[in-house]
Amino acid sequence: MRPAIRAARADDQPALVALDELCFGPEAWSTVGWSDEFERVSEDRVILVADEGAVVGYVVLLLPPVVEDVVEVLRIAVAPDERRTGIGGQLMTAALERCAGRTVLLEVALSNESARGLYAGFGFEEISRRRGYYGDGEDAVIMRWRIDE
Ligand SMILES: CC(C)(COP(=O)(O)OP(=O)(O)OC[C@H]1O[C@@H](n2cnc3c(N)ncnc32)[C@H](O)[C@@H]1OP(=O)(O)O)[C@@H](O)C(=O)NCCC(=O)NCCS
Repeated sequence: MRPAIRAARADDQPALVALDELCFGPEAWSTVGWSDEFERVSEDRVILVADEGAVVGYVVLLLPPVVEDVVEVLRIAVAPDERRTGIGGQLMTAALERCAGRTVLLEVALSNESARGLYAGFGFEEISRRRGYYGDGEDAVIMRWRIDE
């Protein structure tokens, strides 16, 4: 069964905190961090979840006007035992539907082949690198998507 993609609700927060911890370990957002994200939904955030009865994936977008006409993908993840079944693609499709006419940017660790594969499949292109950007010294790859390119 394909999960439904829907806007996150306040009662999804515990599931998101747990799934983020599972997917990102020490780099996970805290409970307070997630609360901040939810508070900003009325301002400049979109949080979508993949719902199969349980939350199995999510994507968080930063909308303009932080940077005019630019949307940033802040986070996307799928539960480890649900990966490679198309859920990341479903989430990204739903996210990009909300980005019509805008440039979409994201950053991804150079070694993150699954995420880079996902993004490349949607037409994201590398535009630059930030050397040693991450705490472990790894480079970040900056990727850009624009529907009309
Ligand atoms: C990146 C991530 C969200 C992909 O989710 P997913 O549900 O597995 O993605 P999909 O099944 O929709 O895959 C879509 C495409 O992405 C690419 N892809 C996904 N996993 C891949 C892998 N391990 N290696 C290479 N390409 C991969 C493929 O092109 C795939 O298409 P295909 O299966 O037809 O070949 C998931 O691997 C994840 O949660 N990773 C950990 C969190 C993370 O690093 N997030 C990104 C940084 S914020």
